[in-house]
Amino acid sequence: ASAARAADDGTRPLVVAHRGASAYAPENTLAAVDKAAALGIRWVENDVQRTRDGELVVLHDDNLRRTTDVEEVFPDRAPWKVKDFTAAEIARLDAGSWFGPAYAGARVPTLEQFVHRVELHHQKLLLEIKNPELYPGIERQTLKVLSNEGWLDRRHLANRLVVQSFSADSIRTVHALKPAVKTGFLGTPHVTNLPAYATFADQINPSHRSLSRGYVAAVHTFKGPHGRQLEVFTWTVDDAATAQRVAGYGVDGIITNKPDVVRNAVRR
Ligand code: G3P
Ligand code: CA
Repeated sequence: ASAARAADDGTRPLVVAHRGASAYAPENTLAAVDKAAALGIRWVENDVQRTRDGELVVLHDDNLRRTTDVEEVFPDRAPWKVKDFTAAEIARLDAGSWFGPAYAGARVPTLEQFVHRVELHHQKLLLEIKNPELYPGIERQTLKVLSNEGWLDRRHLANRLVVQSFSADSIRTVHALKPAVKTGFLGTPHVTNLPAYATFADQINPSHRSLSRGYVAAVHTFKGPHGRQLEVFTWTVDDAATAQRVAGYGVDGIITNKPDVVRNAVRR
């Protein structure tokens, strides 16, 4: 906990551990959050989806095959979609062995468990709502979990939480339901469309592959729904040269699987 506190003084670009420190521990697990904290990384990104019985869980893909042993445990349940399994079934799965034997037995966390761990380390959360078209009402439900966990109080809202999505509709919904929550749009909207995005998004978060110095400067000319300059968090940058290039463009945040590499590249 103290490592994460000590090593991030808020200097930009902020470094965000993508799915946790996912180059070093299985993505979107509590171990990946712990690893980010051990590296002194203050921001953690995750992906949220929903089970058949309505529990929010943290997983990137819309099915369980790549990052769990679901095919062994439930061989008859193809195509192994998250939405077709209950939370109790998912809790039985091993979400760590695929990454390495040291992580055997790691679980798919619920959103609640994930948020607890982020809080324990005094970290900050960049929460992605994944595939919202599969999960009607997931925005309201996500806000409810965050509220139950104390993450919608003023202290957290001010600088500890951003909700992002590739779906503009989804973050527009989050903004409408709870305007105080900061939101991010994942993508690279044409500059002429930025004024519309700025009515409900505080961040425009493009792939580094579609980023230019001019685009960052253009985004920065707009103010978001809270009256502050729109921010740019770019993804997924895992090498020092790219990190230095996008830092030179003036991005506000870099989302990375290797947060130690990026931090060392941009904090010299
Ligand atoms: O946070 C940005 C990044 O996570 C978006 O892509 O596919 O890794 O969720 P993806
Ligand atoms: Ca993500």
